[in-house]
Amino acid sequence: MDKLVIEGGKPLSGTIVIQGAKNAALPILAASLLAEGTITIDHVPNLLDIDVMLNILRELGCRAEHKEGTVVLDTETAHTSHVPEPLMRQMRSSIFLMGPLLARFGEAQVYQPGGCAIGERKIDLHLEGLQALGAEIEELGNRIICRADKLKGADIHLSFPSVGATENIMMAAALAEGRTTISNAAREPEIQDLQGFLNAMGAKIMGAGTDTITIDGVQSLTPCRYQVIPDRIVAGTIMVAAAATRGQVTLQNTRPAHLSSLIHVMRRAGVQIAIDGDIIKVGSAARAKAVERIVTSPYPAFPTDLQSQVMVMLTLADGVSIMKETIFEGRLKHVDELTRMGADIRVDMNAAIIRGVPRLYGATVEATDLRAGAALVIAGLAAQGKTVVEQIHHIDRGYDRIETMLSRLGARISRYLPVPNNQ
Ligand code: EPZ
Repeated sequence: MDKLVIEGGKPLSGTIVIQGAKNAALPILAASLLAEGTITIDHVPNLLDIDVMLNILRELGCRAEHKEGTVVLDTETAHTSHVPEPLMRQMRSSIFLMGPLLARFGEAQVYQPGGCAIGERKIDLHLEGLQALGAEIEELGNRIICRADKLKGADIHLSFPSVGATENIMMAAALAEGRTTISNAAREPEIQDLQGFLNAMGAKIMGAGTDTITIDGVQSLTPCRYQVIPDRIVAGTIMVAAAATRGQVTLQNTRPAHLSSLIHVMRRAGVQIAIDGDIIKVGSAARAKAVERIVTSPYPAFPTDLQSQVMVMLTLADGVSIMKETIFEGRLKHVDELTRMGADIRVDMNAAIIRGVPRLYGATVEATDLRAGAALVIAGLAAQGKTVVEQIHHIDRGYDRIETMLSRLGARISRYLPVPNNQ
């Protein structure tokens, strides 16, 4: 498998344009099934997860092209509501195809996405939401068959503000009869982007970004052209890499308002951050200061997707920091690898106690999931000596050629492909 080799110790410097948001593009691609015709989506990054979603749409009968960041879909030819199991297993978030397939075909056949390194990833809230809209759900082993002659609007309360469940319900309700309200809805910017896309196709949705979303079902939706928001997690990852290497980096094409909880934490750590429109400048010549307590929670609180990256910055801070992970039960797996690089971290249940050390040392480490992998890259950039990060396919799921991105900022990083076995 590919690996990244990093020569650490060099501050990042320069300017970078942030890619479109993976977690906005994925539900928007799924929602494209709700209209028949040619749909064009701009600022879609080149990622493994996007490739999987496009392959699923092709398997469903759509034509899909992805060139220079623009996806052109022809959804008219979609003819089946059965998502192939091998493709579902490649990307668990394909579960939010249920809503659009159910709304378009009156049926959806998917498979239990199963857990992953970060957690069990349950889908009970998705299924309860679709049932509330009138879907009948049959589970045969790991196969899930949903059927609904006509979806009807309903008042739905989510016991947890699940991002995926909120998106699935929004997409199904867009073509349901009558009004649907989702209370305790997820408030992430990606939900707001999905509302923007659906409304651009003629849906009648209000409230995304708040905890109550109202959807008035319409008869049909019309294809449109739409641009995806910038990726706040990729931007946050670069910001933390700049701080951890004590560099000076300018980020373009950002939405600072989507990063306010991270900016608050980084400023508490003594990092200089200047904001000018969609530009964020990060500078940090001195060692960071410890941050007493950071708790991951649903948006707009501190995001779980930036927990591992910020932890790397805190391993090199003066003092003791505590990070508590409350969203995913398996999202502290990067701690072992960071410890092997010289970090001083102790895990107690779902909390990590991080005591700053003078430096990290390069080592051969393994990415266990997407954001843990990104954190290990940051650790390699900040460490003294050489780091090899293995299993980097996890990282390619969410970062568009991370080595190219970082090399442009002066990092000494290369991707090594496995030598073909010439036996
Ligand atoms: C989305 O996952 C993101 N993925 C994740 O990003 C992100 O970490 C997560 O939201 C939280 O912000 C995409 O948007 C494609 P959830 P999702 O449903 O929708 C529990 C990345 O790194 N839950 O809000 O799966 C679940 O077990 C990825 O880009 C239920 O119990 O997140 C978890 O503990 C990783 N029942 C918590 O809620 C359900 O039916 C958060 O899940 C659904 C979820």
